[in-house]
Amino acid sequence: MEVVIVPDSAAGGELIAEAMANLLRRKPDALLGVATGSTPLPIYEAFAAKVRAAAVDASQARICQLDEYVGLPSGHPESYRSVVLREVVEPLGLSESSFIGPDGTADDIAAACEEYDQALVAAGGVDLQLLGIGTDGHIGFNEPCSSLASRTRIKTLTQQTRKDNARFFDSIDDVPHHVITQGIGTILEARHLVLLATGEAKADAVALAVEGPLSALVPASALQLHPHATVVVDEAAASQL
Ligand code: GLP
Repeated sequence: MEVVIVPDSAAGGELIAEAMANLLRRKPDALLGVATGSTPLPIYEAFAAKVRAAAVDASQARICQLDEYVGLPSGHPESYRSVVLREVVEPLGLSESSFIGPDGTADDIAAACEEYDQALVAAGGVDLQLLGIGTDGHIGFNEPCSSLASRTRIKTLTQQTRKDNARFFDSIDDVPHHVITQGIGTILEARHLVLLATGEAKADAVALAVEGPLSALVPASALQLHPHATVVVDEAAASQL
C-alpha cells in the first residue's frame, strides 16, 4: 500500500484526477468506480476541469457506482444514482448509458445485488476504484464486521453512519436503514484502489486502516490485501499515523 500525504483536499483531488487522466490516456474506455460523500468532490472538480481543458479525453470513459440506498424512489436527489449522475456523469458530458449501478428500487434486492456483481465482471472489471472512508472505517457501505470476502449485497447501516449521512437529508429519520454495497471482495477485484481521506474526523479510521491489523472490524484495512492500493490523506487525516 502506498500512502501519499498531501497538504489539503484540493491537492488530493488534483493528484487523483491526474491518476484518472493517465489511466484514460492508456485505456480510453476504462471503467472508473466512483464514490459518493463529500470527500471525493475535489477529485471530480479537478477531473472535469482537465476534461474541459482538453488535457484528457473522457468521452469513452465508463463509470460505475460503489453503493446505493435501498428504497429511495427512483430520481430521489440523494439516491447515489442521482448523486453520481449529477456530480460525475453530467459534468463530464457522458450519457447515462456509460454508467452502471445497483438498483436500490428493485423488488428483489438479492437478485439486483447478484446482477450488479455480474455486470461489473461483464464490463471487464473496474480499472480504478475511488473510495472514501467512514468514521468507523467503512468502505462503500461495508460496515465494521463485514466479511472481507463479501460480494455485493444488502447491508444495514449503523446509527453512526446514518448520523454522518443525515446532513444530506431533511432529518436522520429520512436516512434509509438499508443499502446495497459492493462487497469488500468485490472492491478488492478492482485493478487499482484509491482511497482519499481528508480532515481530522477521519484520522483514527485512517490510522487503523493503514497501520492496524487486517480486521473485519475495520473494513478499510482490507486495502492491505490489495497489490495496488493508494491511500491519499491530507495532513489532518494523517495526524494519527
Ligand atoms: C458514505 C459512502 C462512502 C463514503 C462515506 C464517507 O457512507 N457510502 O462511500 O466513503 O460516506 O463520506 P464523506 O466523504 O462525506 O465523509
